[in-house]
Amino acid sequence: MEIKHISKDQLAVQQVFAQEDRVLLRERFGRTPRALVKSFGCAQNVNDGEKLMGMLKEMGCTFTDSVEEADIALYNTCAIRENAEQKVFGIIGQATHQKAGRKEMLIGLCGCMAQQEHIAEKIKKSFPGVDMVFGTHVVHTLPEIIHEVLMPEGKKRRRVFDIPECDGVIAEGLPTVREDSVRAGLPIMYGCNNFCTYCVVPLVRGRERSRRSADILAEAKDLIAKGYKEITLLGTNVNSYGKDLEDDLSFPQLLEAVGNLPGDFWVRFMTSHPRDCTKELIDVIARTPKVCNHIHLPVQSGSDRILKEMNRHYTREQYLSIIDYAKKTIPDVTFTSDIIVGFPGETYEEFGETLSLIQEVGYSSLFTFIFSPRVGTRAAEMDDPVPAAEKSRWFNELLETQKACGMTFYEREEGKTLKVLCEGYGKTKNGILSEDQASEGKSVLMGRTERGMVVDFAGDPSLIGQFVDVTITRAANWALAGKLAKPSAE
Ligand code: 5AD
Ligand code: SF4
Repeated sequence: MEIKHISKDQLAVQQVFAQEDRVLLRERFGRTPRALVKSFGCAQNVNDGEKLMGMLKEMGCTFTDSVEEADIALYNTCAIRENAEQKVFGIIGQATHQKAGRKEMLIGLCGCMAQQEHIAEKIKKSFPGVDMVFGTHVVHTLPEIIHEVLMPEGKKRRRVFDIPECDGVIAEGLPTVREDSVRAGLPIMYGCNNFCTYCVVPLVRGRERSRRSADILAEAKDLIAKGYKEITLLGTNVNSYGKDLEDDLSFPQLLEAVGNLPGDFWVRFMTSHPRDCTKELIDVIARTPKVCNHIHLPVQSGSDRILKEMNRHYTREQYLSIIDYAKKTIPDVTFTSDIIVGFPGETYEEFGETLSLIQEVGYSSLFTFIFSPRVGTRAAEMDDPVPAAEKSRWFNELLETQKACGMTFYEREEGKTLKVLCEGYGKTKNGILSEDQASEGKSVLMGRTERGMVVDFAGDPSLIGQFVDVTITRAANWALAGKLAKPSAE
């Protein structure tokens, strides 16, 4: 099988379906149809969700967050851990309950969960209210899928299950409805070839495939022109960018090209695999001012034996040497990471090596997970003798260690005046700023620093979407509180 670029003609066919759906949906619901699209999981999946919304808009839909109001409910799911999947089954249960009183409602399941055969089977048997289940490689055919559901053969209701096995596709030019007007995710490559032994992603997202740099740069320019202030280049492993293309840019070259586009914005990227995170990439971050000095570099474990069992292709020493080079090269560089606790066969001593690595690197924050066996992965077949309760204790120990590391990190910011991109309203309940601190008729706003730290401050909502200077007055281990200094001169 090979990677397919979906042609303009194929997309034009989908647009014809979308126009027919527009009429059929209006007839079915007797009003402008309201759609709910709920995306779970990573930023790439959220981006797929924005394309699903783009296509639904072409079919004449407006959008709602409430399942009670929705005529069409689409759940765009994540399969990375079991609890994410369990949550989705609960939510689908609620949606089908809604449908009991409104037979014309349409319910769909898509995304990474839907791409797995055993999940599709479960939906087929146990959730008869679900009308469509479609995998990650046919997202662009949503108009056709809805058309099939709407045009039953004879009187019989039609359910569509479309989960082709495929190495992957690239569909350029799909319409997009973006949920955020300040920050945008920009996919640069899809799929994964790494086959970490715990990870389901290569099984549900296909092989690595890169978009052409001209398409990416055109989209970046468009986002900047539309006023977006932060662009995150997205890929399962961005360092693999371009390896499947001839005569195109490498990831460091692409990052530099995006960072050198004219305009007032920041660039981030996610996710970089330590195995092929090069000095060249670090040098680009160092010399390109608009590329943020924050690197998310998931280490997963600090033990060489576990890293080998995970098929990660680097050692603790190699990982630390990249960190060391970045610390020397990029002023004020900040790292975040993903950690898995309780990989099959991991001992307490090996877990201790993860704790020591965390202290050695000094992460500003961590995404921490207890190992979850995934159908079809090698790790799911491995002996896993450590009881769940023991893994939970290790997990709590990890959180305590990071709390202390995080605190020193955040405390260092007190008293500094930092450039902050104001993203929206901050939390008024359980946030770092209490309501009375944000008084004087101002709202609690939140933003992020270049290094990715959350800052809450009081200010006028007109600042949302702007860079501002904030003087940090107080630190917690997960966020900073500050006072507006003055609007940034930049
Ligand atoms: N169990 C627990 N955590 C996992 N991750 C991926 N697969 C699993 C799994 N089976 C974590 C990894 C990855 C992040 C996105 O999710 O840490 O980097
Ligand atoms: Fe999973 Fe590894 Fe691919 Fe990340 S790089 S998605 S951890 S297989």
